[in-house]
Amino acid sequence: MNVAEISTNVHYIGVNDRRTDLFESLWPLPYGVSYNSYLVAGPEKAAIIDGVEAAYALEQIGHIREILGDRKPDYLVINHMEPDHSGAIRILREVYPDITIVATRQALDMVKGFYGEEASTIAVKEGDSISLGEGTTLRFVPIPMVHWPETMVSILEEEKILFSGDAFGCFGALNGGVTDEEMSTDHYFPEMVRYYSNIVGKYGAFVQKALKKLESVEIAAICPTHGPVWRGRIAEVVGLYDRLSRYEPLDNGVTIIYGSMYGNTARLAEEAARALTEAGVRDISIHDASRSGHSYIISDIFRHRGLIVAAPTYNDTLFPPVKTLLDAIATRGVKNREVLLFGSNTWAQRAVPVMEEILAKAGIEPIASPVVMKQSASADVIAAVRQSAAALAARLATFDK
Ligand SMILES: Cc1cc2nc3c(=O)[nH]c(=O)nc-3n(C[C@H](O)[C@H](O)[C@H](O)COP(=O)(O)O)c2cc1C
Ligand SMILES: [Fe+2]
Ligand SMILES: [Fe+2]
Repeated sequence: MNVAEISTNVHYIGVNDRRTDLFESLWPLPYGVSYNSYLVAGPEKAAIIDGVEAAYALEQIGHIREILGDRKPDYLVINHMEPDHSGAIRILREVYPDITIVATRQALDMVKGFYGEEASTIAVKEGDSISLGEGTTLRFVPIPMVHWPETMVSILEEEKILFSGDAFGCFGALNGGVTDEEMSTDHYFPEMVRYYSNIVGKYGAFVQKALKKLESVEIAAICPTHGPVWRGRIAEVVGLYDRLSRYEPLDNGVTIIYGSMYGNTARLAEEAARALTEAGVRDISIHDASRSGHSYIISDIFRHRGLIVAAPTYNDTLFPPVKTLLDAIATRGVKNREVLLFGSNTWAQRAVPVMEEILAKAGIEPIASPVVMKQSASADVIAAVRQSAAALAARLATFDK
């Protein structure tokens, strides 16, 4: 597999990676990931759009030969320079020494830095296009910071096909189907939220700019660099990216993150979850920050409107795995969340002030006074936790679904 016709002129020539455990050495890939590459063959010239990771170079070249035979690709269009899409360049240039790399100036500088001087390049900017012959014009639109500064998208004008780079991408290798119309896409949507929130989540404002830029472009298919090609569910996918990049939660559920060494703080999380349930909240995710994969927790934070953080004081600061998560929220500038904080300690409370400091960086202010527990949960502490959880539930009920 992995050669599939998208239209008469456009073929999928990407690869599946089911071997990498951690994307960017950080994010687990339980369903693998695809590095999507496309071949646009016009009557006169042929262009490869987006590359693959280095280990898959020969597989991609096999796909190119399967379609082009002895004809050689003329252009390699690099929408996004990150090595998961450009690693194969060196080998591709060995095999096709006359190929011309088409990218933004900034991307070409990065090509030079990563892979050395290249023979032939064309630097493109906003609105530039190249023709592959009649009926096959590629136009380029920079979309900086989605997800690197050099990024652009390419549009096959006559067919209204958008080659979107990482935008609209998701984790999950392709299991036979390439377009959304030839597969069940259900499991890709949670993986899109996880991909977006972890990888692109910091750049919401830039994603919004990109969406505005592309608003007037009529699109018949989206060909991203990861995950399915979108044709039947374009509106849903664009809507999801729009919502996530505005930091609008997807539902009124609650993410509860806790850290706990002896179980006392964990109990506060459980009590809060029960009180939320009694007050009508139905979508609750509880995560032990020391054990749940952080990429899944970050994904839930982007999904749910409610957030409860409960953690001990540790060496005069916030319990480390919870601190890492709050830093991830602040780095990504998460907004529009209804937040409660619970802190524990045995001799001097520091967890809560550190939580407040970090969240203040993201402009997040808790909706109620923090609950502080010393050593173990007294009846008063449990009552305070339940009361603030009920207040959170009441607040969440005021938002539209
Ligand atoms: C290595 C270590 C460092 C700690 N540092 C502090 C501290 O700086 N200040 C404090 O008041 N308690 C400190 N504690 C105590 C815990 O914060 C406190 O017992 C808390 O209630 C533990 O919550 P848990 O029962 O959910 O694990 C520390 C505990 C450990 C194991
Ligand atoms: Fe990327
Ligand atoms: Fe990527």
